[in-house]
Amino acid sequence: MGLIDAPTLAEKLRPPRALTELGGSLFAEPAEGSTTAWLAWWSGAREELAEAIARARSAGATRLTAGGPPGNYVESGVDASDADRVAALLAAGFTTRGEHLDLRVDTAVAPRPASEATVARSADDLRALIGPAFGSAWQWEAERALAHHGLFTARSTGGDWLGFAAHSGNLCHRGTFGPIGVLPSARGRGVGVALASAVFADLHARGFAEATVPWVAAETVAFYESMVCLRGRTRRLSMTLALSGRGSP
Ligand SMILES: CC(C)(COP(=O)(O)OP(=O)(O)OC[C@H]1O[C@@H](n2cnc3c(N)ncnc32)[C@H](O)[C@@H]1OP(=O)(O)O)[C@@H](O)C(=O)NCCC(=O)NCCS
Repeated sequence: MGLIDAPTLAEKLRPPRALTELGGSLFAEPAEGSTTAWLAWWSGAREELAEAIARARSAGATRLTAGGPPGNYVESGVDASDADRVAALLAAGFTTRGEHLDLRVDTAVAPRPASEATVARSADDLRALIGPAFGSAWQWEAERALAHHGLFTARSTGGDWLGFAAHSGNLCHRGTFGPIGVLPSARGRGVGVALASAVFADLHARGFAEATVPWVAAETVAFYESMVCLRGRTRRLSMTLALSGRGSP
């Protein structure tokens, strides 16, 4: 088992082969008042899992998440086909809070402009717009995407902000799409496709012939299928273990 102390863990994981080849990752959310989160990885052996849980408890962590939480992850969740790992987590007291898909997509897509909106690369982190509309995790990912020049914004012809899409907000070395959000009032008019196709085209131009779209809800797969070719999908489980957060004496 290994441990990393870092506030932006996924950004620091280089070379890219690090965790997923070693095994699964466990993200410990810090105790209240502490800014230090940490990440453990384990081969799947139950004793390593027990050790990680014990360390998280003694560090006063409030929760352990298998994979990682939205906004800061190495894997978006536990691969549902890995029955041994899922069984070990359940036996250790983890509960499954939801499931989603990671899509592998072909990035060869022609940009598809929207008739009523303009999509452009953003030079601003958009935090004042993204946070209130879509939450702090996406705001944070957008900030990191901006650092990699991977943030795109959509505005109406009248200049109103309509939404954003990004790549490289997490796991930038792997070609990672997301997040994407269009304001509810602007949905269904091609803005999402215009944003997403610009992001896929930019990934393609950077040499990523394929990209991962993590955290996709089953009902949103059709949105991606409407513009890119799907090469594969992995079902992932969000599994967490609540801890007291008080730390050991
Ligand atoms: C997903 C989202 C970005 C789509 O934006 P949008 O501007 O409404 O999408 P568009 O109008 O460009 O295109 C929608 C197309 O995808 C299809 N589609 C299928 N499932 C869809 C879904 N769950 N949501 C939106 N569109 C969907 C539509 O039918 C449409 O296809 P069509 O042009 O052939 O009719 C927007 O709904 C959103 O912000 N949702 C909340 C955040 C979210 O779920 N993000 C994705 C995380 S993986």
